[in-house]
Amino acid sequence: MEEHVSTSYARIADRYEDVRGGAARAVALADAVRPWLPPGRLLDVGAGTGIVTAGLARPDVSLVACDLSVEMLARAAARLPGRVVVADAVALPVPDGVLDAVTYVWVLHHVGDARACLAEAWRALRPGGRVVSVAGLPLPVDDDLAPSFDALVDVLRPGHRERAAAAGPIGVELGFRALHEGAVTVALDVTPNGLADAIEQRLFSHLWDLPDERWRELVEPAVARLRALPGPDRPRRRPYRHPVVVLERP
Ligand SMILES: C[S@@+](CC[C@H](N)C(=O)[O-])C[C@H]1O[C@@H](n2cnc3c(N)ncnc32)[C@H](O)[C@@H]1O
Repeated sequence: MEEHVSTSYARIADRYEDVRGGAARAVALADAVRPWLPPGRLLDVGAGTGIVTAGLARPDVSLVACDLSVEMLARAAARLPGRVVVADAVALPVPDGVLDAVTYVWVLHHVGDARACLAEAWRALRPGGRVVSVAGLPLPVDDDLAPSFDALVDVLRPGHRERAAAAGPIGVELGFRALHEGAVTVALDVTPNGLADAIEQRLFSHLWDLPDERWRELVEPAVARLRALPGPDRPRRRPYRHPVVVLERP
């Protein structure tokens, strides 16, 4: 798999939660991850604003959040005082074998090297410790928005979906035992005009650094197609299904 550079979310920290489904998304994802956590020490890697991390709370689990972005973590610090640390997923700030769980929620497609991240999780976990990963890109949605909106990711970021769901195959190659493969659904109401606005505001990471020429060639036509759909202000309920993988270190 082609290596790429980690994507910090610093530039969108102030809007991240509003434009990614807010509390409803966080609750759905945390509910899918929490049952798989063994008791003990958890490091949520790429925790961002900590909105999902905080939802993982359990009396027998001690939470710490880490992320590349100070700006994202500033919000996490308000939720998890004293329990946030700036760190790269490939260099976790813990000694060998001390963690009981490492989680990645919507993270692995953004890291430069998913294999190195999972190898680092292996180092940090005790035998019997677990990785829980929720893929950041959903399975394809079959509706009238998909050909204009979802297709943009596939054109602009080839391999992104595979990277998002790579935890299972890479983990098994590294020697983890696959305990569970499933998916969690986050259902969001979305209008064509709302999506077109969000694209124009470059709220999605695959649009952040897009050169003007590519923007004109690919994005402007997609926005026009979205705005031309019937009922452009009528919400469509989109069932975003995000793959979930649970791995155990033998
Ligand atoms: C889509 S956000 C997910 C945030 C959070 N897990 C959530 O679901 O709300 C991806 C996060 O991964 C962080 N990130 C990207 N590459 C990273 C790396 N190599 N190490 C640590 N964090 C990273 C970004 O800064 C961003 O906050």
